[in-house]
Amino acid sequence: MARLLVLGSGGREHALVWSLAGEAAGHLLFCAPGNAGTAELAANLAVDLQDHEAVMALVREQRIDLTIVGPEGPLAAGIVDRFQAENLPIFGPRRDAARLESSKLFARELMAGAGIPQPAYVACHSRAAAREAARAQGLPVVLKADGLAAGKGVFVCATEAELEAALDRFFIGQDFGPAGLALSVEECLVGPEMSVFAVCAGEQFAILGTAQDYKRAFEGDRGPNTGGMGSIAPAPLATPELLQQVSRQIFKPVLAALAGRGVPYSGFLYAGLMIVDGAPYVIEFNVRLGDPETQAVLPLLADPLSAVITAALEQKLPPVLALKPAAAACVVLAAEGYPGPYTTGLPIGGLDQLDEEITLFHAGTTRRDGRLVSSGGRVLSLVATADDHAEAAAIIYRNMARIDMPGSRFRSDIGRPQVAAAAEAN
Ligand code: AMP
Ligand code: GLY
Repeated sequence: MARLLVLGSGGREHALVWSLAGEAAGHLLFCAPGNAGTAELAANLAVDLQDHEAVMALVREQRIDLTIVGPEGPLAAGIVDRFQAENLPIFGPRRDAARLESSKLFARELMAGAGIPQPAYVACHSRAAAREAARAQGLPVVLKADGLAAGKGVFVCATEAELEAALDRFFIGQDFGPAGLALSVEECLVGPEMSVFAVCAGEQFAILGTAQDYKRAFEGDRGPNTGGMGSIAPAPLATPELLQQVSRQIFKPVLAALAGRGVPYSGFLYAGLMIVDGAPYVIEFNVRLGDPETQAVLPLLADPLSAVITAALEQKLPPVLALKPAAAACVVLAAEGYPGPYTTGLPIGGLDQLDEEITLFHAGTTRRDGRLVSSGGRVLSLVATADDHAEAAAIIYRNMARIDMPGSRFRSDIGRPQVAAAAEAN
């Protein structure tokens, strides 16, 4: 039995805690800061994740054996470096390796050097340079903030007016601060997207799972981008042949390139891919698991998660992890207005009415005077596994109507056969 701590407070972190809680080993679990869902499986510890010294003090106080980092913020800020300097076990990349997500230009340049398939790009540090690169590229063109922008720093510009408006936001409004004063001006690729997750230890890696994320707010992939309104796993596009190609052309060379620069990568690695004419291209790397992809991916992992992480920390990763031959779907229940402004503190009822086949992961929830209330834009995620995605989604949709939260909304087309079929036909 081990004392394990998960850092973070979203649906991804609830899924991590749930996965660890289901292991035969019977761990003692902690989550910081956690949410109302993690509190049912773990002891929630209140702490500001930006305060690394405070997190380490908790780890010592609670005699934590291993800390697992959920979100990218603490990784980009160097929490792993701090823990390692004090000999505290932690799973995640060090700050220099986390630049794969925290600097899009670092990632692009590393991939270019390693021959990893990606869109053509130009690094730009001024409005004039970005405009010139965009004109040379031709429309449509993609502008991407170099630094972390909470998923909002990407503009796909189809017209001159959209291009100028995006440039205004980067350089005049400075909406992204210094993170947006350097840009990657990119060729706009077209094709279905797929996320692939790996567990990495230096140059060793094993694929943990694949998923399709539903990023747009509304049905039929319309409306603004969100953190993700749902997911299915495995990704319908993920044939064994394509995954072999992803391993050979993407994970292997990126890990080798990082190791070659003296910044070996340890932790989860997320490749956001676009499949163009059957070939994978890297849209982005993230140095963490996806949310809400994790909620659909972890229920399909047959190996105990803590054993996988321990194997990575000991550099003894098996090349292949055991996955269940099933399909999972995840549908997010969001507050009205999300991804724009929304209210919190909304009462949530009906959770006791959910069928046993539903695995419920909390995201933005908390308890106030003993009552469950919302505390974020993405509030809950409902997950089910079945023989195929449509069946898993049908189980979820039967249950969604039983949840009572004023103004809540969800996408009603997650895992529908036509969505998967459309993606496959692309
Ligand atoms: P990112 O935050 O880098 O994942 O980008 C958000 C979304 O923008 C992606 O999921 C893609 O749909 C789109 N996108 C980003 N870069 C490109 C590109 N070079 N070509 C086409 N679409 C892109
Ligand atoms: N669902 C997308 C992400 O986690 O970045």
